[in-house]
Amino acid sequence: MNPMCSETCQFAASQREALSFPLGQIRRVAGGGAPGEVDETRRNVLKLLGVAGLLAAGGAGLGAGAIQYAQPPQIGLSSYPRVQLLDLDGTPLTVTKVMAEYNVMTPDVITFAYPLRNEPNFLLNLAPAPGGTLGATNVVGGVGPKGSIVAFSAICQHLGCPAPAIAYYTPEPPPNGCLGQPGGTPGGHEFYIHCSCHGSTYDVTNGAANLTGPAVLPLPQVTIEWDQTDDTLWATSMTGPPVNGHLDTLTGDYGVGTSTQLSKQQKVPLCNFPT
Ligand code: FES
Repeated sequence: MNPMCSETCQFAASQREALSFPLGQIRRVAGGGAPGEVDETRRNVLKLLGVAGLLAAGGAGLGAGAIQYAQPPQIGLSSYPRVQLLDLDGTPLTVTKVMAEYNVMTPDVITFAYPLRNEPNFLLNLAPAPGGTLGATNVVGGVGPKGSIVAFSAICQHLGCPAPAIAYYTPEPPPNGCLGQPGGTPGGHEFYIHCSCHGSTYDVTNGAANLTGPAVLPLPQVTIEWDQTDDTLWATSMTGPPVNGHLDTLTGDYGVGTSTQLSKQQKVPLCNFPT
């Protein structure tokens, strides 16, 4: 990581933090202690034996019930729902609005949850800004008049850092020289998704394929549908690997419902870049 960025990269984990994971406390009470000292270990063993006896007396039904309540219930969806995208103000999002207000130079992190409430996704329009030439059209999975509107999971496929620790970066120069390589970009790509936790990058023009590690898998892509009868946008499914942190993309929280609203965040300064 560039030392110039150490104070701004709030998501970069240090080795020290990694080692300070709480391991719990183990306390030993020696046998034959001083008079009046309670032997907690012996007392707890006796308690456990007593509970085991009660369970045995209660029969197999009670045991089965205990196992059922020991396992958290699985929540999720049985299939991908068709969900309408709503703008930041809650009104239906239209392609006209996206093409007019979002483009390859949009600096904010624009996300929406789909298909579950705890699964954020980037909404990107890779078309060039008005008057500009830099951008991409007819990209993999792109919709809209230029095939430039795409959506990808906003949870990194390495260790699961969510937006805005992972964010889309415009072609503008990185702030404060944090990149350390003026004009340098991963694989010559001038705009990409970058994770500030450990530096993984993804190609937004090619299905969020992995450009640099440590992540090795692409970001899951949301299938976006453009309903040209009323110009609205809908999320209909996801492709690629499961969203990181989920056994499968449809399991792990409640669904978002019939619509999902955009939200806006500031991106993290580019500070933990692979060299
Ligand atoms: S969580 Fe490690 S690179 Fe994103």
